[in-house]
This record gives sequence, structure tokens and C-alpha cells, in this order.
Amino acid sequence: MSFPIERPRRLRRTETWRRMVRETTLAVDDLIVPLFVVPGRETQHAVGSMPGVFQMSVDRIVRECEELHGLGIPAVILFGVPSDEAKNPQGTEAYNPDGLVPQAVRAIKAAVPDLLVWADVCMCEYTSHGHCGLLTDSGEVDNDATLELLARAAVVYARAGADAVAPSDMMDGRVEAIRDALDEAGLPHVPIVSYAAKYASAFYGPFREAAHSAPAFGDRKAYQMDPANALEALREVELDLQEGADIVMVKPAGPYLDVIRRVKDTFGVPTAAYQVSGEYALIKAAARQGWVDERRIVMESLLGIKRAGADMILTYFGKDVARWLREG
Ligand code: PBG
Repeated sequence: MSFPIERPRRLRRTETWRRMVRETTLAVDDLIVPLFVVPGRETQHAVGSMPGVFQMSVDRIVRECEELHGLGIPAVILFGVPSDEAKNPQGTEAYNPDGLVPQAVRAIKAAVPDLLVWADVCMCEYTSHGHCGLLTDSGEVDNDATLELLARAAVVYARAGADAVAPSDMMDGRVEAIRDALDEAGLPHVPIVSYAAKYASAFYGPFREAAHSAPAFGDRKAYQMDPANALEALREVELDLQEGADIVMVKPAGPYLDVIRRVKDTFGVPTAAYQVSGEYALIKAAARQGWVDERRIVMESLLGIKRAGADMILTYFGKDVARWLREG
């Protein structure tokens, strides 16, 4: 069968037809909104490189979460942004039970219990050198010594009431270390969302301004993945699943759609994708210039991530998208 018998345009003629044959949908249920917690009260700082994104104190975050919940967003993920004085080479503030993230978790869960609160687990926001773990004397990130700190932080966040912990550090073996620690702490029901395939990406630039987490020297290439590798992503995901990950993540999203597809097809487990700060900033910048239609570009970028196989998407556009989906 070929032209003129087969005419794909027949089912594209009207919006109703297009709706009926649509293969992929984007729903508010797919969205997780990243939030940055800073010290203080009634405090809100705009992130220069991410127009529309704000670092917020706990009280503001609670109000934001009420709004997100009202829009139907199922989950947020928290990043702590402590003052410089709270940072040290060991990143001890990461596992302070009264730190920013535990405070925010408790306050959000008290105000909006149905909203899922994920806690990002990493050392880079808490170490004075900005690396994702402890350093050896020669300035390398010490994988095994870092595991204990990550596990400690995860337990602190889960005890505060976090609905999931999400290690983003890329140390080997951290999912197992965190799973063991959670189970030992009597928290076997708390899932681990693993940043399994996290690339050493230039697309994280704006986040490092938002989270004050840029490395003071060097880069993260010795622990995050080489952007050239896809088979390695499958091995990373396999290891994290063996270690007990409940949800696996690919990050960034847009430039790694092939990786999302392969992860989903290979393992068939709940798969998240993170549309990161640089992906957000590029769209915002072009939209502000009037060069692209922000709403259409955002929806298309997220639909593409879903079409690639993601079940859920972490995105700074979450609140806008929830509103747009509501408007229809
Ligand atoms: C912390 C972390 C980073 C991001 C999420 N968790 C930054 C990094 O690895 O440097 C990036 C998120 C974004 O760019 O939106 N390790």
C-alpha cells in the first residue's frame, strides 16, 4: 500500500482527530519541581541565570508548595543552599538534623502532607570546596569515605519526613550504602530516586549559581559521566537497580533522549529525567528575546522527553506547565 491509498494526513485534519491518535501525553502527574532553600524568614532571591526561579526561605517554600499542590503537582525536590559560614571541607551541614532541608521537609509535610517531598542528597552545596564528596590529600574525591556521609544525610532527611531521597553525587556504591542505612534506621519504606546516569554537563551552569555549588577548583569529570557514553549509562543504571534504586534518573534530559529511551527499553523501571538549569535558561533567554514561543517550546521539549520514555520529569517550568495544562 502506498500513495495515493495511504494518506497519513487524513488523521491530522482536525484537532479532534489529532487528539484521538496522539501517542504521548504530558500530564501534571509527570512533574517534579526543584526548589532551593535558603536561611532566613520571608526571604526570596531571584536566580539571575534562571529568570522565574527563586531561592526561598522555609516559610516561602511552604507557600510555594501549597500553590504547587493546588495546581496538582505531585512532588517537589529540595536543594539546601546554606550560608558560606555553614560550609566546611567535610560538608557536615549536609547531615545536620536541624539544617535547611530537614526544616523545610518538616514544614512542608505539616502544611501539605499529600505533596511528595524528595530530598536531593549530595555534598556539593555543603562543602567549602564545592565538590560532591570528601577530598583526599591529593584533591581527588574520596569515593568510599563519602558514602558514609551521604548515608547519614539520607537518613536525616528521611527522618525529617522526606518521601524519597535522591542521591546526585555519582559516588560508586552510594545507593547500597543509603539503602542499608535507611533500613537500619527503620525507614525501609523510603524509596531511593537515583541520579543513575548523570553526565558531567555544561548544562548545570545556572544551577551552580542557584545552589552556590560550583567546584572551587577543577571539574566533576572524575565522578560524573562522559557525555559521549551511552552503554556506560546502562551499566550505571543496572548497578543502581542491583543496589536497590526504586526510580532511576537520566540527567540532563534534552541532550540525552537516546539514553532515556535505552534505559526505559532495557530495564522498564520507573524512569525520571531532569530538564536541568541550562535547558531552562536557554529556553528562557530565547523567549525573552522574542525569538521563540516559550509556552510551545516548553511543552514540546517536555513532550519529547516523555516520548523518549521518561515517566516523570524534573523541571523548573513545572508551575507554568501545570497552569497551562489546566487552561488546556
Ligand atoms: C548536585 C546537583 C547538581 C544538579 C543537581 N544536583 C549540580 C552538579 O552536579 O553540579 C544540577 C541541576 C541543574 O542543573 O538543574 N550534585
